[in-house]
Formats: sequence, structure tokens, C-alpha cells
Amino acid sequence: MIDNKSIETLKQRIDIVDVIGSFLELKKAGANFKAVCPFHNDTTPSLHVSPSKQIYHCFACGAGGDAIKFVMEYEKLTYPETIEKIASMYNFHLVYKSDSGIKQDDKKIFENLTLFFRKCLDQHSFAKEYLNKRGIAESLVTKFEIGYAPDSRSVINFLKKNAYTTKECVEAGITAINENGNEYSRFVERIIFPIYSPNGKIVGYGGRTISNHPAKYINSPQTKLFNKSRLLYGYNFAKDKISKEGRVIICEGYLDVIMLHQAGFDEAVATLGTALTSEHIPLLVRANPKVILSYDGDNAGIEAALKASKLLSQHGIDGGVVLFNDNMDPADMVLGGLVNKLNDLYNNPKDFIEFTLEQSIKKYNVKSPSEKQKALEESLEFLKTLPATLAQNYTGMLANFLNIKENLVRINNKQTIKKTLSANNFEDMLELSVIKTLLLNPNFIDIVLDIVDISMFKTHGNELENLLNNKRDTPELRRLLIWDDIKTFSEEELVSALIPFLINFYEEKLNEIKSSQTLNFDKKSFYLRKFRDNIQKLKKGELVVYESIGTL
Ligand code: CTP
Ligand code: MN
Repeated sequence: MIDNKSIETLKQRIDIVDVIGSFLELKKAGANFKAVCPFHNDTTPSLHVSPSKQIYHCFACGAGGDAIKFVMEYEKLTYPETIEKIASMYNFHLVYKSDSGIKQDDKKIFENLTLFFRKCLDQHSFAKEYLNKRGIAESLVTKFEIGYAPDSRSVINFLKKNAYTTKECVEAGITAINENGNEYSRFVERIIFPIYSPNGKIVGYGGRTISNHPAKYINSPQTKLFNKSRLLYGYNFAKDKISKEGRVIICEGYLDVIMLHQAGFDEAVATLGTALTSEHIPLLVRANPKVILSYDGDNAGIEAALKASKLLSQHGIDGGVVLFNDNMDPADMVLGGLVNKLNDLYNNPKDFIEFTLEQSIKKYNVKSPSEKQKALEESLEFLKTLPATLAQNYTGMLANFLNIKENLVRINNKQTIKKTLSANNFEDMLELSVIKTLLLNPNFIDIVLDIVDISMFKTHGNELENLLNNKRDTPELRRLLIWDDIKTFSEEELVSALIPFLINFYEEKLNEIKSSQTLNFDKKSFYLRKFRDNIQKLKKGELVVYESIGTL
């Protein structure tokens, strides 16, 4: 474990501009720096880096934090890995505590064990034959470091001989303890596929049985180094081709990836026995490629492709789906020599949104008017979740699919998936300034608390609410800290800024009261007097205490 003191010293030594600047091209903009944000599909430089606050924030997608958080997210590393990476950038010597956790040297456990598994593959001809039968060429076996895990005893013996403690092996997800307290290998009589981090370091294994064990695949459990839901198998080998080609092919299985690479589709990756989720998105969009979903042609594959298509189109990611007939998967296609066909298919995928609409409608018998209505409603529900301009392009297609007039297809995007704070959204600078002032001067909160209410903040009430609830580390609040156009007030300025703001609020209330149909005469005149009185006081520069009015 890295010693905490050592981490603290390192933190003091690093500069966020330096750190981020070594990954991204930073341009000076006033007191801050700007870059194209690597965490979403960015076109303008939306990521701001503040040297004075030592934080970064993306005004489009909300990503942000300190230098360490940046490297963690950008490089997809765990916290200790990030610290090590930054330390090496600064030639900083980290001090390790010897007792617990995965120590620096322990990381070699995967490298050593992988060498052992590879040796076992050489020694077990039936395992080699299996790979042969599946059509994997020798060069790919070497590239993907495929191996064989024999019986549990041999694996344990190897680990002990190399002085790996039980604790280390269990923590790395390689062994486990049974009811009798004995350590056993999780991988037994299985072909071993090492799983790599995006940087190409082995962080876990997938193992396919070749002795008909009921679990066809066993994967490493979630460990400190191995987070299945963020990783993509083969990404380390695929990343160069992905940026060069501007395309990534996502499939379901280890074998699919290996066989596709064998056929020249070096841009192929796979999820690790899990669905594609939003956690995968940062890795996927890094090079902004077109995404091809290439799942098995069975029902499960179609269902998975549908979910992934929705997810990707909601993130505005471009691409489409390729499905094969006869329950074939990409590995079967390569094995069957159908590489040209694959090429054709990958060059002409079915657009995500078209695929989703088609699949959604398929569930209904559109000959029946009521089912057609349901199909329309379901499709509209989906289109509403898309970025607005994107959705508009598909109204014609949907009308066509349902054989109805296009003017029946109305999308009123209430909200896109994430209510991101893009520059186009209306920003109320006064509200933001008040919030930023309170954020930086918590002692002003007391002054304000008596006189304002969250309901007065029509545009940024959420931010105020988070601030008052002490939820300070939200993207919306972080961006205020880094956004230099948002002024911070002195106490005096705060009061004078609030006065017109409050006058405006009470004037609006006054109008509401006047036009209210539900209030009785007594109440109406009571509030009219009260609000007029408030406005008078405010105009004289006197702050008035807010009293809850309830619904008018
Ligand atoms: N998988 C898993 N556990 C299982 C079955 C599958 O984790 N019991 C994951 C594996 O990552 C596997 C992927 O889901 O690679 C796809 O499953 P499947 O299509 O059944 O496997 P294939 O890759 O086609 O493997 P094979 O051709 O060896 O049957
Ligand atoms: Mn398959």
C-alpha cells in the first residue's frame, strides 16, 4: 500500500495544468486553460482548467475534479495506479507500507501467472488442439497471451512456490477459500484469456472450460484492479486502429474479438459478459469513433443490441447494428471464411435509431389501430430521450414505418437524457453569482437564508438547494468555481444585488395574487398589502424576511 503521507507530498508537488497538459492540448484562456473535453463527444474546447483552484471542469458534460481524478478517469486507472502514474511523471519516489493491499510488486502476480498458464498450454496438447479446432492462429495465441489453467493443485503450487500469499491471491481474484478453509484456484481446466486494462496491463482472466464444466465461462471477480463494467476486452490492442479507422466494433465474446483481429478487424472489442452500460462510454468515445454493435444473432443478442443502441443514440454516438443469420457470431463468421461478407456488413450497419424503432414496432401488430397507437407511443417515448435535433431527423421514418402522416409524429423533448448545462441553455447570471458567492463564503449563507427561498431561483434552484444541503461536489457547483465570468460579490454587493432580485420576485407574486381566481377576498388583500409593503421596504434598501406563502 502506498503510504498516505507520501501521497500528500506528491499532491503538493503536482500542478493540474502540468498534469492535464501532458494528456491534452491546453490553450490559455484568461486566467484558465481550455481543452477539448475527452470525456464526451466534444467539438469545442469545453473543458476548463483552473491553476488557481487546481480543478478542472467540463461545461458541457460536467466531468471535473482535481488532477488525480483527471488521470484516473482519463487513463481508466484505480486510485493507487493513478498515484503511481503521476509519481512516475514527476520522478517522485513513493513510499510503500508493507502490510496489506495489492502492493506494487504484487501486480506482477498476473504477469507471472500468465507465463505459467502459457507454459501449461504448451504442455497440454488437448488444450492446444482445442484452440486449433476453434481456428485461432498461433500468432493470435501469442498476441493475446492465451494460456491454459490445469488442475487447482498445480496452480496453487505455482503460486506458493513463487511466494504469493493466500491473501494476495484471493485479493487478486485468482484463488478462493472453500468451506473447509482450503485455498483453490478459481480457474481449473480452462482456456485462459488474460484481460487487460486500456494500457495493456493484465488485470484479470476469463476462462473457458474445455472439460464440459457447467459454467462455460468463468471470469475474475471484481477486484481493486478489475472493474468489469468499465473495461472492454481487447481495447488495449484495438485502440490505435480505433482512432485510425474512426470505428470500433463491439461484440459479445473473447473469441469474437480474437477471431476478428485475426481477420484484420483490429478495431474489435467486447464487453466482459456484461451488457454495454454508460460506464463504458468514456472509454468508447475517447477517439470519437463510429460504433458498430456486432452481437450474436440469437434473441439474447438482439435484445442486448437494442438496449445498447438506445444507450448509444441517447449519447449522440453515431453508428449501427450488425446481426448475423442462423445464430452465428463473429467468431463463427471468421471460422467459416466469411470475411468479405463481414466487411460488407460492417460497412453497412443498421443505424441505431432505425434499428431501435424497427425493433420497438416489431413487438406490435400494427394492423390493429390500438396496437399501432401503442407502437407510436413507445417509439415517441424513445425519440424523446434523444438529443432534440437528432430526434427530429427520424419523425419521417417513424411515420413511414407505421404508415401514418408525419404530422402525427410529434416530439416535444421535455428533457434530453441528462440535463447538461450547455452554453445554449438559459443561464441566469445573477442567480449564479449569488450561488457562487455563497459557495465561496459560507458565512454569508446566514444572511441570505432568511430572505431568499429556493423557489425564487427560477433557473438555478437546484444548485442553491445542493449548496444549502452541503452537496458541494456536484458538477453544477464545481463549474461555478471555475467559471470566471461569474462574479463573486462582497457582502455589500450581495445585498445590493439581491434587492432588485427580490423586488422582481415580489412584483411577480403581486401580479399572481391580483389575477388569482382561488383566493378569497381577505387573503387577497392581506397578501397584496404584505407584498406591496415588502416592495416598499426593499426599495428603501431594507431586506425583508421571506415567509412561506404556499400555493396561491
Ligand atoms: N459469458 C460469461 N459467462 C457465461 C457465458 C458467457 O461470462 N456463462 C461471456 C463471455 O465473456 C463470453 C461472452 O459472454 O465470451 C459471450 O458468450 P457466448 O456467446 O456464449 O460465448 P462465445 O464467446 O460465443 O464462446 P464459445 O464460442 O466458446 O461458445
Ligand atoms: Mn458467441
